[in-house]
Amino acid sequence: QTIKDFRRTLLDWYDQEGRATLPWRLNHEPYRVLVSEIMLQQTQVDTVLPYYERFMSDLPTVQDLAYAPEAQVLKLWEGLGYYSRARNLQKAARFIVDELHGHWPESADDLQELPGVGPYTSAAIASISFGEVVPAVDGNAYRVFSRLLKIDADIANTKSRKIFYDAIAPIVDISRPGDFNQAIMDLGSSFMTAKNPDSQNSPVREFNAAFRDDVEAKYPVKTKK
Ligand code: ADE
Repeated sequence: QTIKDFRRTLLDWYDQEGRATLPWRLNHEPYRVLVSEIMLQQTQVDTVLPYYERFMSDLPTVQDLAYAPEAQVLKLWEGLGYYSRARNLQKAARFIVDELHGHWPESADDLQELPGVGPYTSAAIASISFGEVVPAVDGNAYRVFSRLLKIDADIANTKSRKIFYDAIAPIVDISRPGDFNQAIMDLGSSFMTAKNPDSQNSPVREFNAAFRDDVEAKYPVKTKK
């Protein structure tokens, strides 16, 4: 039925056109995914790429990050901004190495115990690295699913998060949750963009209720604050 068709259409497109060669997609080791998701929180993919490669080559394991001088970590972050991300990332590494003896939390709930890791980032890591079937709900997912499903919840209201989470949760592909979440990210940065979306040519055009009803400009609904 529709949900099955949607998943298959989305993942087929992802397999053929998705950015499968992004370095955090070639290897799903949780340390690599954590670093990528923290960098990607406020920074675009193209900007992140060289920083990510340098970070991984200088600090290839969670132990390397835990034991590194803070100055080295901040130096590697120089230019990315939002330095609290770098400090929290190192705190998270120290927590995993010192308190958890290198054993990673594997569920989205447990991953949220890490400093700097919120509902979105924990779900991204749990789905990509550990195969947990959870939706990674960020601004991108708000935009994509508000249009696909015509969800009228105001994204400026924090209570809307649960509405989106509950709407997306049953749609996530059970055997490939990480790829599903990352395919949504790719959709949001290619066809289903904030400005001038190209829904006409989108692989999921037939599943886009807002496009079908010619009301895409209305979504996502956001009150000015
Ligand atoms: N933005 C946030 N996480 C991402 C990911 N894993 N791939 C591409 N863009 C992202």
